[in-house]
Amino acid sequence: MLENFSETPAKDRVIVALDCPAWEAIVIADALVGKAAWVKIGMTLYYAEGPAIISLFKRRGFKVFLDLKFHDIPNQVQGAARSAAATGADMMTMHTLGGTAMMRAAVEGAGQGARDRGYDEPATLGITVLTSMDEAALAEVGVARGVPEQVRAQALLAQSSGLTGVVASPQEARMLRELLGQEAFIVTPGVRPAGAEVGDQRRIATPRAAFEAGASHIVVGRPITKAPSPADVFDAIAAELEGL
Ligand code: C5P
Repeated sequence: MLENFSETPAKDRVIVALDCPAWEAIVIADALVGKAAWVKIGMTLYYAEGPAIISLFKRRGFKVFLDLKFHDIPNQVQGAARSAAATGADMMTMHTLGGTAMMRAAVEGAGQGARDRGYDEPATLGITVLTSMDEAALAEVGVARGVPEQVRAQALLAQSSGLTGVVASPQEARMLRELLGQEAFIVTPGVRPAGAEVGDQRRIATPRAAFEAGASHIVVGRPITKAPSPADVFDAIAAELEGL
């Protein structure tokens, strides 16, 4: 069963992105045990450490968002999703540009992998348009639509292909919540607690504003992982989210 996110307090829907070497990720995660419910593992950490890194965080009680952004023929993506789900990943990503057949295969594979091991079915999320791409970059690869139109079209495709939801910037969250309805997962990076360094994020929102705009989950990385005390920053975010 997928988490019914509206019944989960917002602080338990904050995903800490551990984009750092394994030893550092483990030290940070240990400081967050019992506080944060979720961690995100991206390509850099996963390709360095392999699936053992997922078990390591699962054993500490975290839910794991495995952000590998699958994009291949349906048969390969089905296998990737099955393998990822069998390691215990609770959420995974793919490019919606892979098309309906690929996304359906991913959902099928994720279900198989989880059932094989007796795990809960993982959430499957679609990447609509990478935020690093603007209209000119889309045109270069043959997409004539503007960015917002393309985001909407790809989000609807993700939903009709059976995905749990999408990854989106906080600025797109309100529009996507209206488009996809109340149950879709809308997971937003680009979140900065009030007063935090912005870094290379462009379109940002505070944690509370992102949830109020319609995010089901938020991803926060460096404001927590680069802080002298990650636990204190997490506590401050949790306090800001009280009541949500
Ligand atoms: O450190 P920071 O809070 O910026 O981390 C954000 C996380 O969200 C990173 O893991 C990054 O890969 C991811 N992300 C992002 N912007 C996007 C999509 C994903 O920052 N548009």
